[in-house]
Amino acid sequence: MKHADICDVLSDASYLNQSTTVCGWVRTSRDSKTVAFVELNDGTSLKHLQVVLDKEKFADPSAFLKLGSSLRVVGTVVPSQGKNGGVEMSAETVEVLGTCPPEYPLQKKRHTLEFLRTIPHLRLRANTFNAVFRVRSILAAALHEYFQSRHYVYVHTPLITASDCEGAGEMFRVTTQPWNAEVKSEEEYFKNDFFGQKSFLSVSGQLEGEVCAMAFGKIYTFGPSFRAECSNTPRHVAEFWHMEPEIAFAELPDVLEIIEDMIKNVIKVALEKCPTELAFFDKNFQPGLLEKLNNLVNEKFGVVTYTEAIEILKKADVEFQYPVEWGCDLQTEHERYLAETVYKRPVFVTDYPKEIKSFYMKQNADGKTVAACDLLAPGVGEIIGGSEREADLEKLLAAMKERGMTLDAYEQYLELRKFGSVPHGGFGLGFERLIMYATGIENIRDVILFPRVVNKIF
Ligand code: 4AD
Ligand code: MG
Repeated sequence: MKHADICDVLSDASYLNQSTTVCGWVRTSRDSKTVAFVELNDGTSLKHLQVVLDKEKFADPSAFLKLGSSLRVVGTVVPSQGKNGGVEMSAETVEVLGTCPPEYPLQKKRHTLEFLRTIPHLRLRANTFNAVFRVRSILAAALHEYFQSRHYVYVHTPLITASDCEGAGEMFRVTTQPWNAEVKSEEEYFKNDFFGQKSFLSVSGQLEGEVCAMAFGKIYTFGPSFRAECSNTPRHVAEFWHMEPEIAFAELPDVLEIIEDMIKNVIKVALEKCPTELAFFDKNFQPGLLEKLNNLVNEKFGVVTYTEAIEILKKADVEFQYPVEWGCDLQTEHERYLAETVYKRPVFVTDYPKEIKSFYMKQNADGKTVAACDLLAPGVGEIIGGSEREADLEKLLAAMKERGMTLDAYEQYLELRKFGSVPHGGFGLGFERLIMYATGIENIRDVILFPRVVNKIF
């Protein structure tokens, strides 16, 4: 079906005064005595193309004005008569491709995001989702470009695993075994399972990412991770997109530098490539968003150690729901206080107590903390978790034993420390959380296609 993209018709002057074919869905329409207007959208741009139907040619245009129906229009692109300039299309012929009855749920101009969540298959046709998913696409491509142009190898790590990277007990089990009351023990049950052992959906590609970094130097993964966290929050989904770079010959300060450079770089790309979308979010969702993003590109991120952060939080003139003591995990309220009230920009918290972090992190000389870094962003909280990795076999083994881990599933990982071990580090970016930060959308369920959350598969 030969036709022009509406984004091109709107922006490319070579269409002016030319006969052109466009296809799209009717977003709004209005009828008057001599002409009727259709705002047509084909998904390629947030802006609609206004199609003008002259009543001399279209005596009864009512079939073309029905919200949600799909049309093919042949017409001439002409300068717009409206006060906003631009172009519109004067229609010659119109064909209805698909009708749309009045029960089409997107009749009103504005719906709440909560309502739209109940129609995930149709909500994408609303302006908000047109903008969210374009920003998402541009940011994904910008991340790829960032790493591709710096000699990182894009690797695809397995999604089914026998090991637990984060050790937080949040793994979904993978099984083909039916419930069988005859089975005597767990061991017997899993021996008969598909892989002959217990297996899970991966919470992170990091462990395999480290394997790759020890061969290719710099790698990144970008794919889904799965977490069976029972937290029903605006920041958690059970299936999220995870970008995980891993870098050989890198220590914690290098990891911080890469994170900051990467975030600034991709936000800059979004500002360049999605000006209309970001202006839309600034107007409708987060006033000041553009200023926030422009400042981000130019300001140095904050850096604070966990120990210093605890002191700041203890002195804070705020009633936290969760009390603060050295050793406690930072809650969202603490993270947001640091990023929003104290630093007013993204801030790294480094060197967390080893007890609240995973086994693989490099142990600091103090014997109490590890070389971890979380990046906290205003409005969202943690968007990145990373660290330098423990490269010393004996220390790593000790950390795993302290945690009571069985070593079977980690033999290959441990061998990396035996054969040419090097200082290395990496991080995991929660891609949806970056989208939340970049768009000002406050609920993670509105930046992913079909959210999977506790008690519900949308
Ligand atoms: O901090 P996390 O647990 O770190 C890791 O998984 C490391 N293995 C990463 C690495 O060093 N390669 O997760 C990384 C990020 C978090 O900062 C958060 O942005 C995101 O993943 N994340 C989630 N996003 C949405 N829903 C969830 N349930 C998430 N859990 C983590
Ligand atoms: Mg984390």
